[in-house]
Amino acid sequence: MANVAVIGAQWGDEGKGKVVDWLASRADVVVRFQGGHNAGHTLVVGNQVYKLSLLPSGVVNGKLGVIGNGVVIDPEALLGEIDRVRSQGLAVTPANLRIAENAALILPLHPALDRARETARGEHKIGTTGRGIGPAYEDKVARRAIRVADLAEPETLSHKLDELLLHYNTLLAGLGVETFEKQKLLDHLLALAPKILPFAEPLWLRMDELRRAGKRILFEGAQAVMLDVDHGTYPFVTSSNTVAATAASGSGLGPSAVGFVLGIAKAYTTRVGSGPFPTELHDATGQLLGDRGQEFGTVTGRRRRCGWFDAALVRQGVKVGGVHGLALTKLDVLDGLPELKICTGYRIEGALVRHLPAAPGAQAKAAPEYEVMEGWSASTRGARSWADLPAQAVKYVRRIEELVEAPVTLLSTSPEREDTILMKDPFEG
Ligand code: IMP
Repeated sequence: MANVAVIGAQWGDEGKGKVVDWLASRADVVVRFQGGHNAGHTLVVGNQVYKLSLLPSGVVNGKLGVIGNGVVIDPEALLGEIDRVRSQGLAVTPANLRIAENAALILPLHPALDRARETARGEHKIGTTGRGIGPAYEDKVARRAIRVADLAEPETLSHKLDELLLHYNTLLAGLGVETFEKQKLLDHLLALAPKILPFAEPLWLRMDELRRAGKRILFEGAQAVMLDVDHGTYPFVTSSNTVAATAASGSGLGPSAVGFVLGIAKAYTTRVGSGPFPTELHDATGQLLGDRGQEFGTVTGRRRRCGWFDAALVRQGVKVGGVHGLALTKLDVLDGLPELKICTGYRIEGALVRHLPAAPGAQAKAAPEYEVMEGWSASTRGARSWADLPAQAVKYVRRIEELVEAPVTLLSTSPEREDTILMKDPFEG
């Protein structure tokens, strides 16, 4: 198993950035396979801080970065990010960034509809990032999306825009929002085309070559399993499949190419946006986790909701995500808490269930069943070996492994790259 896929095992923001960065330094290629610029992570390399949303972290690590067909690409956002990274001294050229020619594009009308619909939903809003992700995926499935390769064909763009605008302007007008003019959009796309097309290619061919040459491929997931459009807390999810199986279809490879699946989970739980969250804490402990864990969204700046570790949820994420091993992050945030709770299942109208059911009504009623564990007073921050951890912290990690039915193969004990305890090298399978 030479390749590795990294996915979030909870509701996102598990600290994938640090783990991906660490693994990217040992890979040859880093591939984004789903999501768009709704994702966000911060990479610290030397004395530079890079904020990435759409660019694969490989670009920052001197590796080949690849944006697969499963990603929805906002060309303006991409070019803006490339400019920012370039202004920090890094080269981004067709030699180190490749884009699938069959990836769907996000146009200005997508965020417009995304936001208008969220406003119309009022208190039932999903809490999207407002970046047009949902509408762009809808267009892809509805077979009316404009794709990267279309940028080379003005006539294709023209007739596709007719179909898109028939749909969008009807909806936007109905929602009382400004509509779009075809010529303006066409000019916009034609101006972007020469900047985007040099990066585009039939990516599946390159992926096949890389694979046959034995290159180490790192698949960089965005969002997380519980935000998966099928397996997550629907409808409070993102619009792509976030599970590891998507790494293959989202980059033009077969399923056996994916290799070792590393699920990232925080030692507690957070969520941004709306939707069920059985172990959410509305008390001082929730506040403390948020403050200590600096739980603010990289993309939205919104404060994240915080709660106890939900082993039933992560177990579900491990199963549907195809997770072979877990990377547990932010254990140090729990330092000094006198007791810790782990959710082992839910009580719904008297019955005990070990998974979160699909029906929203049942999800809302799911009351967590907790196992209480003694906390630890010594600091775990910066620990670099298993022996550096307090006995209770080791017990906590071991109990998590039992409950989620997956080994913890990596433990991250601070934002610093070196503060990592590696139990098993994912690239070794
Ligand atoms: P969308 O992906 O913008 O449509 O948002 C749908 C849901 O996914 C919302 O609850 C967002 O807060 C959540 N979401 C999207 N991207 C991320 C992410 O990178 N981290 C955490 N939550 C995310």
